[in-house]
Amino acid sequence: MVSITSNYQKQQLLSKIATNDGHGENSAYFDGWKAYANDPFNLTDNPNGVIQMGLAENQLCFDLIQEWVVNNPKASICTVEGAEDFQEIAIFQDYHGLPEFRQAVARFMEKVRGDRVTFDPNRIVMSGGATGAHEMLAFCLADPGDAFLVPTPYYPGFDRDLRWRTGVQLFPVVCESSNDFKVTRKALEEAYEKAQESNIKIKGLLINNPSNPLGTLLDKDTLRDIVTFINSKNIHLVCDEIYASTVFDQPRFISVSEVVDEMIGCNQDLIHIVYSLSKDLGFPGFRVGIVYSYNDTVVDIARKMSSFGLVSTQTQHLLASMLSDEIFIEKFIVESSERLGIRQEMFTKGLAQIGISTLKSNAGLFFWMDLRRLLKEPTFDAELELWRIIIHEVKLNVSPGVSFHCSEPGWFRVCFANMDDETMRTALRRIKNFVHQTKGLHTKVAVLKKQCSRSKLQISLSFRRLDDFNSPVHSPMNSPMVRT
Ligand SMILES: Cc1ncc(COP(=O)(O)O)c(C=O)c1O
Repeated sequence: MVSITSNYQKQQLLSKIATNDGHGENSAYFDGWKAYANDPFNLTDNPNGVIQMGLAENQLCFDLIQEWVVNNPKASICTVEGAEDFQEIAIFQDYHGLPEFRQAVARFMEKVRGDRVTFDPNRIVMSGGATGAHEMLAFCLADPGDAFLVPTPYYPGFDRDLRWRTGVQLFPVVCESSNDFKVTRKALEEAYEKAQESNIKIKGLLINNPSNPLGTLLDKDTLRDIVTFINSKNIHLVCDEIYASTVFDQPRFISVSEVVDEMIGCNQDLIHIVYSLSKDLGFPGFRVGIVYSYNDTVVDIARKMSSFGLVSTQTQHLLASMLSDEIFIEKFIVESSERLGIRQEMFTKGLAQIGISTLKSNAGLFFWMDLRRLLKEPTFDAELELWRIIIHEVKLNVSPGVSFHCSEPGWFRVCFANMDDETMRTALRRIKNFVHQTKGLHTKVAVLKKQCSRSKLQISLSFRRLDDFNSPVHSPMNSPMVRT
């Protein structure tokens, strides 16, 4: 049946939530994913396709996971060895979750934080990924119209997760490249005041440590400042620590839980941690999200709300077994961070060789690439223009800073852990070729500009419009070097 319902009719038929665009998919961030989906790179089948570098996935250690799964058939209820548990697991539906799962997750969270803190399994609440955890906390902590402060740049999914169905708002705390995008007390106070001037009620501060997209960590002084700030305003602190175990270099990761333990007089009822196994273990498909709140009432309510997004008992069963294998987990944590470090270094050094700098980082599955020099002017329009060239011509799906609410144009997030070495080398080669050709074009345009100004002609520096000057190398993809 063909639907002839217009947009207007749809809005009449459906709810306001269903028909608003709070899902955030109308953005460059998701457009990049679509461009990849339409023409996915494959080394043998589609070597000129788009390489997906917009996906923060940790795929570097699946050999270790696979080995563990093969060696532990009893952990699965779909093997000869594990089938006797099938019925018990299939009928279990308690929203508290399997005790052994909560115990194992709490232990894993401790291990990832270097055993410097302890987590109470009774405070572990399940959700459908960190996505569900954020929404659940937003429902628990704020009313429609209330807002959370969020330092910029921040993960684009927050706009959907915290806002869309809850009616909660996000209010930016503007951070800048001049101090490597650090979160300062001054920036927090300024944002808070600005929100008050606009009559927006701030209910909390949302931080992401390690940061997506920056790959940087909050140091202890900053964390103390943040905890002091939220205490002074009597607002909540939601700490998304989903990348806790992706740290591959000094300084080490410091969880808010360490700071809270140390700070006398801190109101722990205001502190909530969001965690997930999507990044540290690399299991986004399992949808294992965690709310760990120090507030008893929030734990109680969130647990009831978790009925809307439980983790399947089959998944809990498997993970309880895997996470309680301490020898395996310790090896995995070390190996994973080593591999991430090697990959990040290979990539960023390769870029440095061609004069592309990246924000110094020591965590995450991505880095923050500085292409400000390649913008034709310092605007977000120019950033998007450059991004379109990168995606359609260079065929790399990197994500533009504007979709992370970055306050300065010219920054791009590059994910590096969702591909194999060969794909990474191909991506690096494409960027190199692009930059070399762009440099060539800049020189060419400079010459042309001179000629034009002499003849009083107007010329605008645009990559695309360079075609008008019959440049023989207008698209890096035309280069035989790019065709791998
Ligand atoms: C900072 C941050 N929080 C939350 C999420 C969502 O994670 P999940 O897959 O567990 O829902 C992501 C995913 O990229 C993220 O980067």
